[in-house]
Amino acid sequence: MCGIIAYVGNKPAASVVLEGLKKLEYRGYDSWGIVALTNDLQQPFSVIKRIGKIGHINSDYINEAIKLESHTALGHTRWATHGGVTEQNTHPHLDCTGRIAVVHNGIVENYQQLRSELAGHGFVSQTDTEAIPHLIEHLMVKEGMSFVDAARKAAGMLQGRSAFVAVNSGTKQVVAARKGAPLILGVHENNDKEFFIASDVTAFLDHTNKVMYIDDNEMAVIDGRAAFFNLTTGNETVKRVVEIHWHRGHANKEGYDHFLIKEIMEQKDTLALAINQDDAKIMAVAEEIKAAYGTFFVGCGTAGKVCMAADYLFSKIAKKHVNSVVASEFGNYQDYLTPKTLMIPISQSGETADVLEAIDVAKSKNVKVISLLNVFGSTMMRMSDDFFMINAGAERAVVSTKATTAQLAVVMLLAYATAGKLQEGKLLLMNTAAAVNDMLNPRYDEHIKKLAALLSDRKDMFVIGRGINYPAALEAAIKMQETCYTNAQGLAGGELKHGPLALVEEGTPCIVLVANDETKSDILGNAMEVKARGGYIIGVSPENNEIFDYWLKVPDVGNASPIVNIIPVQILAYHVAVLRGCDPDFPRNLAKSVTVK
Ligand code: F6R
Repeated sequence: MCGIIAYVGNKPAASVVLEGLKKLEYRGYDSWGIVALTNDLQQPFSVIKRIGKIGHINSDYINEAIKLESHTALGHTRWATHGGVTEQNTHPHLDCTGRIAVVHNGIVENYQQLRSELAGHGFVSQTDTEAIPHLIEHLMVKEGMSFVDAARKAAGMLQGRSAFVAVNSGTKQVVAARKGAPLILGVHENNDKEFFIASDVTAFLDHTNKVMYIDDNEMAVIDGRAAFFNLTTGNETVKRVVEIHWHRGHANKEGYDHFLIKEIMEQKDTLALAINQDDAKIMAVAEEIKAAYGTFFVGCGTAGKVCMAADYLFSKIAKKHVNSVVASEFGNYQDYLTPKTLMIPISQSGETADVLEAIDVAKSKNVKVISLLNVFGSTMMRMSDDFFMINAGAERAVVSTKATTAQLAVVMLLAYATAGKLQEGKLLLMNTAAAVNDMLNPRYDEHIKKLAALLSDRKDMFVIGRGINYPAALEAAIKMQETCYTNAQGLAGGELKHGPLALVEEGTPCIVLVANDETKSDILGNAMEVKARGGYIIGVSPENNEIFDYWLKVPDVGNASPIVNIIPVQILAYHVAVLRGCDPDFPRNLAKSVTVK
């Protein structure tokens, strides 16, 4: 994961980088660091590294730490992979001479081999990244290469998905190399004034919406202007300046205490925005699904649960089988792929390494890829043959909420379109959006807050569902795990009696996701089995039932029940997190954009 931002221009570079890093913090928040290029020949770099989050750091602090005015700076926010969370392991990493500084995102899979080949160099961290500045130094000193050639050659020698930005204090050149991990260049009109390089366009959208895409296996060199080169051949490639028209949503909390609750409440609007799709395009993709020799929905984590829901929704609504595969497992299906297969990857960030790797596998078999994405310009968008935007706006909290329900809504539209009932599906989803708007009121929030107080000392929990609410139960369980660290197990109701029931004790909470459909009496029967063994039953249901110890009412929205059933659990997870003193926006050990395998 990790976030990178670099700036070259006439503004105070460290401050620009600081603000950019705050926008990238969702990519990792174990530690952060900034390196600024100075005019001091003895000490060409001014470096600051700190453990923890950067959100509360202000420019004065940075300017004091950096001391000298600088017009070139690189910054990094880290999600630790190789080496613990220490200042030594925090980026930037420097070469032995202290003249080359590097920030890096991704994994250098062959770092051990590189480090042993660079024996004699003074490594000070346990990271894979530190191999890069030393490798560049080695190529410059031992092979007499220029900084740019050495950086290009070094990039070519790295195995695995990664991206790095390096600066040389001697030539004052900045290079940005992209090999499987995202990097985008922001410029002004004439590509000659100010340059921003970042893992994600949001890091510099306050300054410019004009970008030049760094493609995979390419590097950009900033040296008065930005030039692009193929990493393998070294040939220069010609680029256009492209304008990004993407509303990234409101960047502040707008009066809410946390982004998470703000984004949960935004579902009042985001469902309606998600279904605002081009009917003709939805119908055309539905035809492709019908004609495909196998459609694969592919995603990770929460998006993976949406893929699983697609499997149920297509079967129920369109009587059509589609496959749902966890992205990291997709390679195992490659022998089933043909040029007539269709892949529909789902990813909020569009940068999840497992998903991108799955797309690579699909592309190698000439599979058509039509993605569902939320971040315009993301790598997934650029790798796809076509895409739908889910229109949820930027999701800042690490825990996914509004993007999830928006993804579900678009999947449902596709299922209805495949059944030849697009307008019926649209109407249902419009009514669902209106019902969610009504549901998300302060009284409802208070009611869930009271439940959170009852559950705040319970560390274990079950969430059960059947049919289309089985994937919803899995998703609800993820919310409880990551937001308030409850050991929540999501289960198909029928599976309880095959083992997990042994864990039920007096007062064990069990959230039961109920829909007014053919699964209703069976899931209530499963809830009864838990209650009979002392369990505390929280019913998420359009109607109350005597077996519920606590009832969270949801609107009766037919096949859209997974959407409305997940929302109260999102709110519950939030309130339990606050009561437990967890940070709802930045759960421990996680990052929003998971760019490592
Ligand atoms: C959970 C969550 C993660 C993501 C997963 C995939 O709330 O956010 O499970 O869903 O990491 O991320 P994207 O959708 O960006 O591919």
